[in-house]
Amino acid sequence: MTPTAVELLITGMDELHTMDPTRGEGPTGLLRGAAIGFTGGRVSYLGPAATAPEAQRRVDAPGTIGLPGLIDCHTHSLYAGDRAGEFRRRLNGEPYTAILESGGGILSTVRATREASDEALAETLHARLQGMLRRGVTTVEVKTGYALDEVHELRCLRLLKEGRWPQRVVPTYLGAHAVPAEFRQDREAYLRLMIDRVLPQAAELAEAVDVYCDRGAFTLDEARRVLEAGMSRGLVGRVHAEQVEFTGAASLAASLGCASADHLERIDEAGVTAMAMAGTIGGMLPTAMLYMRDVSPPARRMVDAGVRLAVGTDYNPGSSPCPDLWTAATLACLLMGLTVEEALLGVTRHAGLALGRPELGWLTPGGPGDLCLMTPPPGAPARAETLVQHMGGHRAAIVVREGRVVLEVVRGG
Ligand code: NIG
Ligand code: FE
Repeated sequence: MTPTAVELLITGMDELHTMDPTRGEGPTGLLRGAAIGFTGGRVSYLGPAATAPEAQRRVDAPGTIGLPGLIDCHTHSLYAGDRAGEFRRRLNGEPYTAILESGGGILSTVRATREASDEALAETLHARLQGMLRRGVTTVEVKTGYALDEVHELRCLRLLKEGRWPQRVVPTYLGAHAVPAEFRQDREAYLRLMIDRVLPQAAELAEAVDVYCDRGAFTLDEARRVLEAGMSRGLVGRVHAEQVEFTGAASLAASLGCASADHLERIDEAGVTAMAMAGTIGGMLPTAMLYMRDVSPPARRMVDAGVRLAVGTDYNPGSSPCPDLWTAATLACLLMGLTVEEALLGVTRHAGLALGRPELGWLTPGGPGDLCLMTPPPGAPARAETLVQHMGGHRAAIVVREGRVVLEVVRGG
């Protein structure tokens, strides 16, 4: 007897966006009347419901919108403490960098994170991730960078890699987030610590290395050294670039072959061209831009030049205390001028590219079995555009991770 090929089959969705324009309609590869099957953690059927094979479990999901599991490709979700006081100071006009340079901002979160127990860190991270899963997010990139010393950075990376999380967690080493207080007088010693001691160990635990290249953080030369050291050990390169001040970090990211450069409010024309030529993904972080009350990066100019854009939350306690990727998608349209389809690609397929994980964020037979079935806002039609039009608060009816249902909201419940 041959076992049933398909373990789980989902039918009845009003829309299924594959994010593969060769498979369906428009830039999001939209299918209607489709079914999707999973076997062994991967997509095993994708096509008309009418010709779908038998399955061990069949779920009919009318009134829902199917998308690949969303990817939040830029977060700082692992932290302790709270920065409500800094929010007030910034509302009163104190600049973000002045607060950082006086030992607050990122450095105040560093103090709180070092002091927190493993259990407390894991518990709050789990709660944050669970909230993201309820919104349909099946992959979350989480950066370190609120520990900074050897012991605590590695502790955070181990926690990220070894913890049992609701969804796939992609750990990024961001030791170059700020110069820790104890190294203020000797930044070279901190660079040596990162490059010679922490990175060789971090390379075994993280998937990527990121650098905050900006005023009050790291210079272009320092960023280059850290990125080269990490990338030569096999880590994917990522950069926080051109946010507060123009530094040339976007061009650097392109020249080193980084997967993404994020923020980009102050990118120049040379940086745009370099990113387009290198295929570096532009990470749009509209909630950070809003909290910083900043100007928009030249998103349309970047798209026209051939740069693909991802959209992330940048979830962190200072510049972006917003964990809702759907809100980020809406704000990417309103504040940065993305189209609805660009925003949807930004939280799926392009976000996978920003992580250096091109297999994630789209649906194809043989590809990863990550799917979310979203519920539209009450009274709105079950179309993906309504999820982008209405700002935030959207919930998934069903989330499938690696072919298994990991969240199922009982109707009427
Ligand atoms: O991506 N810009 C630098 N890093 C974070 C902010 C982190 C913080 O303020 O705690 C960002 O915006
Ligand atoms: Fe960030």
